[in-house]
Amino acid sequence: MKNRVSNGVMNMRRDTDVLLDEKRIFKPSVETVERAHVKNWETELEKGKDFKKYWAEKAEQFEWFQQWDEVLDESNKPFYKWFVNGKINLTYNAVDRWLDTDKRNQVAILYTNERGHERKITYYELYREVNKLANAFKNLGVKKGDRVSMYLPMCPELLISMLACARIGAIHSVVYSGLSVGAFVERINDAKAKVLLTADGTFRRGKVIDLKKISDEAILQCPSVETVVVVKHTGTPIEISELSGREIFYERLIEGEPAECEPEPMDSEDPLFILYTSGSTGKPKGVLHTTAGYMVGVATTTKYIFDIHNDDLWWCTGDIGWITGHSYAIYGPLLLGTTTLIYEGAPDYPDPGVWWSIIEKYGVTKFYTAPTAIRHLMRFGSKYTRLYNLSSLRILGTVGEPINPEAWMWFYKNIGKEKAPIMDTWWQTETGMHLISPLPSAPLKPGSATMAFPGIDADIVDEDGKSVPLGKGGYLVIKNPWPSMFRTLYKDEQRFQDVYWDQIPGVYKAGDMARKDEDGYFWIQGRSDDVLKIAGHRVGTAEVESAFVSHPAVAEAAVIGKADPVKGQVIKAFLILKEGYQLKTKLIEDLKKHVRYELGPVAVLGEIEQVETLPKTRSGKIMRRVLRARENGEDVGDTSTLEE
Ligand code: WTA
Repeated sequence: MKNRVSNGVMNMRRDTDVLLDEKRIFKPSVETVERAHVKNWETELEKGKDFKKYWAEKAEQFEWFQQWDEVLDESNKPFYKWFVNGKINLTYNAVDRWLDTDKRNQVAILYTNERGHERKITYYELYREVNKLANAFKNLGVKKGDRVSMYLPMCPELLISMLACARIGAIHSVVYSGLSVGAFVERINDAKAKVLLTADGTFRRGKVIDLKKISDEAILQCPSVETVVVVKHTGTPIEISELSGREIFYERLIEGEPAECEPEPMDSEDPLFILYTSGSTGKPKGVLHTTAGYMVGVATTTKYIFDIHNDDLWWCTGDIGWITGHSYAIYGPLLLGTTTLIYEGAPDYPDPGVWWSIIEKYGVTKFYTAPTAIRHLMRFGSKYTRLYNLSSLRILGTVGEPINPEAWMWFYKNIGKEKAPIMDTWWQTETGMHLISPLPSAPLKPGSATMAFPGIDADIVDEDGKSVPLGKGGYLVIKNPWPSMFRTLYKDEQRFQDVYWDQIPGVYKAGDMARKDEDGYFWIQGRSDDVLKIAGHRVGTAEVESAFVSHPAVAEAAVIGKADPVKGQVIKAFLILKEGYQLKTKLIEDLKKHVRYELGPVAVLGEIEQVETLPKTRSGKIMRRVLRARENGEDVGDTSTLEE
């Protein structure tokens, strides 16, 4: 039997009936367990049952300006408050705190790129850089609560500017540099950013992509932006005379600024950042995270799941424009005083051995990446992995979509050499931190994210919120609050309540389908809503449809996910064209260019098909379910509400 609730991808790659028969179990090595902070997974899960006590203990790892009075305020659900009345500053804890320790001159950020350039920034240097920029922000009139946006490549200035915001209480809102004009304008205008940081470009597959050109075009439609700060990153020459009145070079901006800036004592619940992500409707969701709880959640999960010690070299390949980069390329590692490696470039340029060469060169110990990248690189077998010494690796991790057992096994054998366990971490932009994941001392099954993290109560339920029996599919929900949960959708409390909390009363509805096997292990199947996962990136079908419809040739559009062996899913579009248009090669090219312009390269178009009608409900909603079923050659199911 096939699973029909899913949206395409797992029908081909991830038939969970087969997966639940996965009997291979991989136990951790003695060395892994001996080193681990958590030597016994089960005991830790037991401790987490008293979740308030558990998180309160974890919060004590930080330096607080003022201790909290209450761990959790549940009086106004789902608007939870954590560490009530505490005062804390993230940058102080991620940077200043290490200056009086032997980490002072240790590398905090190790930046490298596809051209082999390298920059190493110690904690002390980072402290100075962050403070200079924080002072410069203040001079620009940025105050606590103001929004600052970044449209930057993976470069040290991106991390520095986020930390500078956190130091003075400004709210950062990073726009992924792979998004294009339409998506950019929508996000910056929703956040009403006062300052924007951008760069002359980013290195990608031997070329320089001109980010400033995209930003110049977009910014014309963003009236809230008073100042644009331009980072000279790639060395593409830009003269001062080319800057407009509201633009200034980064280096000029921080020139002469003092390297000391008092950290703002932030309330635990003061906003830290907004990060936009795709939902079921066209409008992206501004996921809002606050300060203290977020810090506690990301630091604890980084430390326990990736077992961080003083001698680690940490590499998360996730882009900082997404939540993975926020939580695990910057905040988690720096809050633990470890070294974080930031790489700018593609995984297969100049050749598909580039990542493995970096692991060898720097002696990376913990490596966190996405299934799509693994599937892409595994096509080269062991041709490239054999060339490098990967013995420094102790723990591996994956994130962003379900990992198929074949990719898991390839990663385990070829990269981890059967000694580095794989942490398959399930979580979301909204959750801020990992919620379902093994710890290094856990027995692993390829393709399963195993169990909920200590302190997290995850379950699989039916539409009424009743737990389903083991082995049955259902909605993945979280039944208790956790510290790094998002607090709302920016300026849209109603949608926050409707989408996540009201559909199945009393619990957080994640928007994923999943199953649990007889050992209680979770097997995530994929999204239950109209959100696609393309190479691990969230892309809303409605966003793609409105991009199509904004093209003069298109009357109506419907978009579904089509399974793809490397990217997981790509877009399949059904279009009704306006009179006089035919879907010829030229128009297809034009449509692809148009969607790319609106949304950026994240929206990978697989196929476009011209149709005469689209299946709709009587109220006019497109039934994507019907299109998916037809595309996958499945039973269309209940169509009683179908108009035609
Ligand atoms: C999917 C990424 C299976 C899931 C951190 C979720 C996963 C969505 C996994 C969130 C995993 C993430 N196994 N599916 N280990 N991790 N997902 O907000 O569908 O970009 O709802 O956050 O990614 O995507 P987001």
